[in-house]
Amino acid sequence: MDRIRIVGGNKLNGVIPISGAKNAALPLMIASLLTDDTLTLENVPHLADVEQLIRILGNHGADISVNGRRERQGESYARTIHFTCRNIVDTTAPYELVSKMRASFWVIGPLLAREGKARVSLPGGCAIGTRPVDLFIEGLQALSANIEIDSGYVNATAPAGGLIGARYTFPKVSVGATHVLMMAATLANGTTVLGNAAREPEVVDLANCLNAMGAKITGQGTSTITIEGVRSLSGARHRVLPDRIETGTYAMAVAMTGGDVILEDTDMALLDTALEAIRRAGAEITETNSGIRVVRNGAGIKPVDIVTDPFPGFPTDLQAQFMGLMTMAKGTSHITETIFENRFMHVQELARLGAKISLSGQTAKIEGVGRLKGAPVMATDLRASVSLVIAGLAAEGETMVSRVYHLDRGFERLEEKLTRCGAHVERVSD
Ligand code: UD1
Repeated sequence: MDRIRIVGGNKLNGVIPISGAKNAALPLMIASLLTDDTLTLENVPHLADVEQLIRILGNHGADISVNGRRERQGESYARTIHFTCRNIVDTTAPYELVSKMRASFWVIGPLLAREGKARVSLPGGCAIGTRPVDLFIEGLQALSANIEIDSGYVNATAPAGGLIGARYTFPKVSVGATHVLMMAATLANGTTVLGNAAREPEVVDLANCLNAMGAKITGQGTSTITIEGVRSLSGARHRVLPDRIETGTYAMAVAMTGGDVILEDTDMALLDTALEAIRRAGAEITETNSGIRVVRNGAGIKPVDIVTDPFPGFPTDLQAQFMGLMTMAKGTSHITETIFENRFMHVQELARLGAKISLSGQTAKIEGVGRLKGAPVMATDLRASVSLVIAGLAAEGETMVSRVYHLDRGFERLEEKLTRCGAHVERVSD
C-alpha cells in the first residue's frame, strides 16, 4: 500500500494549478444518465472517485470516452470526457460498486426520472458519521415515487406517467439530496420547488449544466430552487468549476509553511469565508488575473475560531486542514463541526505530530504549539488525510502518512503540485 513521505520545514513558493472540483464532477457525470445524447465534460480531475464512477455509469449502460489527457503539458491533468447513455441497460446499482463511494447512490435520481425505476444499494463512503439517506427518500416520495427498503437496497418506482413535480422543503441542508432532487425533477411532470436547498457552488454548476441540456431550473445558488419539468434533455458541453476545497487546502498549506504561491485557475468567490479565516490567521491573500496569491512571510500564525456550516459558511471539507494550521498558532483557537458528527478523526493523528487538541462534544480546542515534529501518521478519511500532509510540510523532520488511498480519492497529483513549490514530498510504494 502506498505511503507519502514528507520532510518538513521548507516554505512553499511557486504556482499550483487547481483542478476541476471532484464534488462537481461526480454529480455532473451522473447527470449524463438523464439523456440519450452525449454530455461532454471538460476539466474533469483524474481521481480514484471519478474512475470508480466511470465504472458505475458503465454498468448502467453509459459509453464513456476520455480524451484531452493533458491540457497544458506537465501542469494540469484536466481531462475531457464524453458520456453517452443511449439506453439504460441496468437500473440496479449494486452494493459492490455503491459501497466504495457514497455519491454513487445519487444515480437513483436520474434512473428513476428516466426509466421510472431504480434499485440502488444503501451507500458506504467516508466514515464520518452515520450519513443517512432519509432526505433523499422523503424528497423522492414528495415527487410521488414509491420507495421500499429491502435487503440493503432502496427500491424506487415512479407512477406510470413518471414523477410528478411538487413542493418539498428539506428539513436539513443536504448537498447530495439537493443534487438528486434537482436531477429527478428535470424530467418530472409539472413544477418542483425545493425549499432549504443547498447553495454550494457545485449545486449551481450542476444546475447550469442541466440548463445547458435543456432543463428549466431557476434559483440555483439560493435556498429556493424551482424546476419546471421538461419531456427530455439533450447533450451539452460543460466545464467543471474549480475545486474550492483543493484551493483552500493549498492556501492553508502556504499559511502554515510560509512562502508565496499563486493558486491558478481558481476563483476567490468560491471560498470567501475560508479565505477570510486564513487572512485572519495572518496570510495575505490577493486576487490575480487567473486565481489567488497567498503569502505569509515573517508574521506568526494567529488563532482564529471557526464553525463549519453549509455554504456560504466555512466548509466542513476544510475543517481538518484549518485545524492543522491552528496547531501552530500563537494562542488558543476553537473549531466547531456542525455538519458531520464524527469528523475529528484527524485529532489523534495531529497529536502524534505534537499538536495539543482537546475535544468537547462537537468543539475542538486547539492550543497552538508553535512547532510540530514529524511522525508516522495514518490517513483516516479524505480531508483528514490532507490535513496530515500539510501539517507534515510544516513539521520538523520526517512524516510518513500511511493509507494514502484516501488522498487519491480527492487530490489530483498532490505530490507533484507540492514538489514543484519546493516541498519534499514523495510517494513510497511498499
Ligand atoms: C457533500 C460532499 C462532501 C461534503 C458535504 C457537506 C460530495 C461528493 N460530497 O456530501 O464532501 O462534506 O457535502 O458539505 O459532494 N444527511 C441526512 N440525511 C440525508 C442526507 C444527509 O441526515 O438523507 C445529513 C448528513 O449526515 C450530514 C448533513 O446532512 O450530517 C449534510 O450532508 P450532505 O450535505 O448530504 O453531504 P453529502 O452530499 O453526502
